[in-house]
Amino acid sequence: MRLPQSQAAVLETASATEAQTIERLAEETGRKPETVTGAVFDLRDEGLVAVEERTESSVDLTDEGRTYAEEGLPEIRLYRAAVGAGADEEPVQMGRVIGASGLDGPQVNIALSNYARKGYGRIESGEITADPDADPDEDAEAAALSAVAEGEEVTDATVLERLDSRGLVERSERTVRSVTLTDEGVTALMEGIEAAETVDRLTPELLTSGEWRDVEFTEYNVEADAAEYRGGKVHILRQTADRVKDVLVGMGFKEMAGPHADADFWINDCLFMPQDHPARTHWDRFALEVPPIHDLPEALVERVRTAHLEGVGDDGDGYHSPWSEDFARAVALRGHTTSLSMRYLSGHAVGELEPPQRYFSVEKVYRNDTLDPTHLLEFFQIEGWVMAEDLSVRDLMGTFEEFYRQFGITDLRFKPHYNPYTEPSFELFGRHPETGELIEIGNSGMFREEVLRPLGIDCDVMAWGLALERLLMLMYGFEDIRDVHGTLADLELLRETEVIR
Ligand code: PHE
Repeated sequence: MRLPQSQAAVLETASATEAQTIERLAEETGRKPETVTGAVFDLRDEGLVAVEERTESSVDLTDEGRTYAEEGLPEIRLYRAAVGAGADEEPVQMGRVIGASGLDGPQVNIALSNYARKGYGRIESGEITADPDADPDEDAEAAALSAVAEGEEVTDATVLERLDSRGLVERSERTVRSVTLTDEGVTALMEGIEAAETVDRLTPELLTSGEWRDVEFTEYNVEADAAEYRGGKVHILRQTADRVKDVLVGMGFKEMAGPHADADFWINDCLFMPQDHPARTHWDRFALEVPPIHDLPEALVERVRTAHLEGVGDDGDGYHSPWSEDFARAVALRGHTTSLSMRYLSGHAVGELEPPQRYFSVEKVYRNDTLDPTHLLEFFQIEGWVMAEDLSVRDLMGTFEEFYRQFGITDLRFKPHYNPYTEPSFELFGRHPETGELIEIGNSGMFREEVLRPLGIDCDVMAWGLALERLLMLMYGFEDIRDVHGTLADLELLRETEVIR
């Protein structure tokens, strides 16, 4: 019988009496496990080998579990300290016992919550008692923990479950395949196997020499289980950012670039944000202790100052609050990429721009927010603006509809809003595919006179800032953006999420 080389090798190594795992066959044939797996499946389809599958589960300690395996479970340390302090006779002040136990940080709470559950004693109005009959040497969880540490098997499923839910062990499962020769396999071997020189890829040499006519090509088995391949891949946030750029370029936009740390002038003052606006206090911005920015266009600084102090136009009215140039030159991490829009619209970035113009950026912004499922301290903002004669809110809405439709999002809602720099202003909402909730996905509006005049623009400019992470939530159904990036990112989710194109 003629077989491809890897199949011939596996068949010759397999035994009719002793089942061998894929790993062992791989070792003995000197081939990769995935090659052996492929060969085994083909041989099985030919009836030459039998494959038996079983699931093997393994249990490993987590870092926390390892710590407790060495130092003892927190509740047991608490019990020993309590007994040491005489709490088995009368209630003792909690603080004293905790001090004596050496527990600190989160371990204290862990100790307290397990102490009562396991019947080591009680905790009442700041005092602790220890049950003299409790015996930490009989603690089933402690015993199971050291068994895992020693590589022994834990037979009590409930205790194991408990260790798992306490985050002290990690359980994993894998499929183990064992291979034996069938009678047909043995017969084939006795009749003789010839290893065919097979070719697994067509090369220019095969083509030019004409050899391709005579060689035997390997067949692909796309159904065979292969070893899991975990190479690097582009993060879905980056993939989506790239796609957003493609879409916007397709809609006629050009990309803006500029500093992450910028003068407050570009981040706020150009946007007619009063210097005493609450968002400009140290609570909300990430100020940097670096020298102020000197290189600001003087004439523009002057026009922005006048707009703030006196307003713009005949009936203009300013903020009637002081305006300081030093304040405007101070450097902070940008809280929005509208700073880039200001640099471009003012002519500072690429020179004076004649309408019509369209620009965008997909860049990081930084905010001192409280972390929650929809907020991070930094996120990617999809900034954009269109400068043209006679723009209206309809143009703005139409642009959003066109943009989001490319990502399969058609149910958009608009809500009137307030920004110091746009009038009218709209917040944009989309429906979460899993929860059905309306979530805010962006903010937008028509830049007001007080912004445009000092910049030297006398036509209309509509503009927006959309959150890339929120777009991702609508596309993929994520409910917590902390799963997607940051220190709590869910690696499994990132590995397994299918790319939507
Ligand atoms: N800067 C706004 C934000 O970060 C977005 C925006 C940009 C709104 C331009 C209107 C115009 O929320």
